[in-house]
Amino acid sequence: MDLDGFELVRLKSGQRSVRCRTHGETMHVGTGPSTEAAELHIRQQRIVGRAQAHTGGPFVIWDVGLGPAGNAITALDALRDITAPVEIHSFEIDTAVLEFALQHTEALGYLAGWESQIAELLTQGIAHPLPHVCWQLHRGDYLSQLGQAPPPAAIFHDPYSPARNPGMWSLELFRAARERVGKGECLLTNYTRSTAVRVTLALAGWAVGFGVATGDKDQTTIAASHVDLLERPLGRDWLLRVRASTNAAPFRGGQYAPGAITDADFTALQALPQFG
Ligand SMILES: C[S@@+](CC[C@H](N)C(=O)[O-])C[C@H]1O[C@@H](n2cnc3c(N)ncnc32)[C@H](O)[C@@H]1O
Repeated sequence: MDLDGFELVRLKSGQRSVRCRTHGETMHVGTGPSTEAAELHIRQQRIVGRAQAHTGGPFVIWDVGLGPAGNAITALDALRDITAPVEIHSFEIDTAVLEFALQHTEALGYLAGWESQIAELLTQGIAHPLPHVCWQLHRGDYLSQLGQAPPPAAIFHDPYSPARNPGMWSLELFRAARERVGKGECLLTNYTRSTAVRVTLALAGWAVGFGVATGDKDQTTIAASHVDLLERPLGRDWLLRVRASTNAAPFRGGQYAPGAITDADFTALQALPQFG
């Protein structure tokens, strides 16, 4: 396992995070691993309240791009005081970054106290970090693995950026995730405010809304299985921005090819119930 591809960096907030040298990207760049995870995913998705209110089996979270586990551990910290059953399904193509993080738990801070559970997850593929929480690791490419996990009620969509990790933002991938949700209720949060990503999510069958601000970002993106789950859905005025943008074409086939939206895609977008 090559751990040389990662290094520790200090963020503006003073917190430490991990930078991937190969992708040239730092994780949770704005405020730090636990603050961004809490604001963007845990609080915005009302994870604790929704897990408590959930009926008909465990509340299922998909943690897409486990990385150094900032989102997963922040979820566990938040879920400590409830007893409702929760399953966290983490997807990761290369666990080297988590191995690296495990060697630097003191500097990173947020992993402290969870070392043995993470080690168990890495060796066994499954761990029970809290009595009511089962944590499972799906190794490999997310798109090929997502059919193995039960339908989610919450997705933390946190790969690298579309420019560096285009396969993780494609129409095919978001459509497969939406199909796995089926008739259930699900929210999906991510750090980008990219018009192209929002268009891709919408054309893949998700209702799409403005997400909370976090760190340096004045807004992010939240998607939902049903539009009435969104507090601030994108409206018809946003469509004007799509039409004028030079970077609104949906991502297809794992290619990063920014460009204006085609007439055919725009017609399909306008016809979605969310914009009716
Ligand atoms: C920004 S990091 C994730 C940070 C992490 N969620 C956290 O909270 O600490 C992105 C992660 O996505 C993983 N990844 C990239 N492409 C993937 C794929 N096709 N399938 C599964 N994981 C992937 C990378 O290996 C990397 O660990």
